[in-house]
Amino acid sequence: MDLEEGLLTRRSVRQFQSGKKISKQNLEDMLRAAMYAPSARNCQPWEFLVINDKNIFQEIMAIHPYCSFLADADLAVIVCGNLSEQCDDNYWIGDCAAATENLLLSVHAQDLGACWCGIYPVEERVKAFIKLFDLPKNIMPFALVVIGHPLQPAKQPKDRYNPEKVHYNGW
Ligand SMILES: Cc1cc2nc3c(=O)[nH]c(=O)nc-3n(C[C@H](O)[C@H](O)[C@H](O)COP(=O)(O)O)c2cc1C
Repeated sequence: MDLEEGLLTRRSVRQFQSGKKISKQNLEDMLRAAMYAPSARNCQPWEFLVINDKNIFQEIMAIHPYCSFLADADLAVIVCGNLSEQCDDNYWIGDCAAATENLLLSVHAQDLGACWCGIYPVEERVKAFIKLFDLPKNIMPFALVVIGHPLQPAKQPKDRYNPEKVHYNGW
């Protein structure tokens, strides 16, 4: 698929073919795409925690209320901000969001499926992930990306283009 088609057809996937594996190459390709995201002053203040241990899936589902579909996924990537590597205060948030979107798009381009499950800035979730993974002080869990082989093709919404959201040269 070309880039434009990929952008318009990516949807959150929450139903997966249980037990179907994602190859190391697929995983590396999606992580590479994430690392090609734009970042403020190109500081790339991100880290990627890959989880493929089903016991840890259970622990994640116990602390994140909206990711029950992780049970059938093959892996999860926790996109984290590295506060020691950000170049300007709080820019890590936008940088990690860009990396997360690139990750989702690469997953889609590989005919896999993913769903972004928010962690930051929900305080109790952030604390719970820090505790679960014993993260260092400078590492902030940002997003949980649940990844697997989709059970079915995603339904596509009506055109989301809304001209009322576009403002020219002022409000
Ligand atoms: C910051 C953020 C947090 C999200 N958190 C969750 C979540 O916890 N659980 C979930 O099932 N989906 C979550 N989503 C996915 C959204 O629900 C989804 O992107 C939205 O409904 C639009 O659907 P689409 O991704 O198929 O276009 C999140 C998305 C974003 C960007």
